Amino acid sequence: MHQVKFSQIGWNILNAKLKTPTGAVWLIYDGGLPKHMLQYAYAQCAKLKSAHHLAIETVELKKTISESQKIWRLWLANGVQRDACIIVMGGGALTDFIGFTAALYKRGIPCIYIPTTLVGMVDAAIGGKTAVNFCGIKNSIGVLAPPKVVVIDLFFLKSLPKNHYHQGWVELCKTALIHSEQLWKTTLRIGQPTPNLIQRIIRCKLLLTSIDPNDTGPRQHLNYGHTIGHALEAWSHQHKKPIAHGAAVCWGILVENEIAVRLKLLSPKHQTQISNALMPYAPKLSRPLPKAESLLKFLRHDKKNAAQHIRMTLIKAPGKPLTGYPVSEKLITDVLKQVCHALR
Ligand SMILES: NC(=O)c1ccc[n+]([C@@H]2O[C@H](COP(=O)([O-])OP(=O)(O)OC[C@H]3O[C@@H](n4cnc5c(N)ncnc54)[C@H](O)[C@@H]3O)[C@@H](O)[C@H]2O)c1
Ligand SMILES: [Zn+2]
Repeated sequence: MHQVKFSQIGWNILNAKLKTPTGAVWLIYDGGLPKHMLQYAYAQCAKLKSAHHLAIETVELKKTISESQKIWRLWLANGVQRDACIIVMGGGALTDFIGFTAALYKRGIPCIYIPTTLVGMVDAAIGGKTAVNFCGIKNSIGVLAPPKVVVIDLFFLKSLPKNHYHQGWVELCKTALIHSEQLWKTTLRIGQPTPNLIQRIIRCKLLLTSIDPNDTGPRQHLNYGHTIGHALEAWSHQHKKPIAHGAAVCWGILVENEIAVRLKLLSPKHQTQISNALMPYAPKLSRPLPKAESLLKFLRHDKKNAAQHIRMTLIKAPGKPLTGYPVSEKLITDVLKQVCHALR
């Protein structure tokens, strides 16, 4: 299992690793990161300044095999070997993309992640899932490749735009909702991502990934909200009106909860409680709204499907997730129509 270290302890570990690096050191960072955040990172770890630098802009659009190939060519041209130290500083799109690219290069170079978004800290950088988008399907080509170390420093959140902060809050709520009623109640009470709450959520995700590293059992609880969420996200990219991951997951949770209520799994009381908490973070969807049939096209490709059924992680109540629950296309269509109608 990879190490997740907070604040100064994390930077100390990074400084120790870079004191006598065996191979080349590469700092691959999100080009959208404000300049002062790069300076902040140098102040914590001076060796980063002399590393090979590679800035990647508009990362979500670069999460593709062809962009991985460009990096493989660059590394080959620079003689990068397996003893290289690849430090990835950015959001979830960057850790997914570079984690994937490095995992395949010369049979794998484990990276060090410095997540700079809340989604990255509580979710994407934890657990070792890496992926690129392919043929318009989100994260359809990927590999499990845990990072060597994850350095969590909440200072990076200071420059995060509000909407990205909200997306991280949605992922945090998702983990609380699948973990336990107690953690969900605590999350509702605190109402914001405090350092303690962030640490608790990271520990929950680490626990799930350590007991199920291959994602065949309880780790799939984390897919709650993601079946519909990923379909909406992929649809939005296809229509050149991108909806961010966390925002799509927010809608995913709301729609999947309605499905769970119709299946008499989730009580309307719990549904209302969750909707009240998350509705403020569900972004307005621009017109035209997706048609049920166009989302179904993406749902049929979902990695969780088996035996021609669309399968979802639903919840019976906070802390009571059900994985691989088969849901008929008819029910999905009815619920999507109802939601779209309500939004008109
Ligand atoms: N591997 C996993 O388990 C996992 C889990 C959740 C999400 N993901 C993936 O993560 C991606 C979403 O990640 P994300 O929400 O972090 O989005 P992101 O990586 O696209 O970053 C969002 C935006 O924030 C900017 N940014 C990053 N750090 C900043 C900072 N500190 N200050 C100001 N701006 C900053 C970026 O330039 C970008 O414009 C998706 O591709 C999703 O599939 C993966
Ligand atoms: Zn997610």
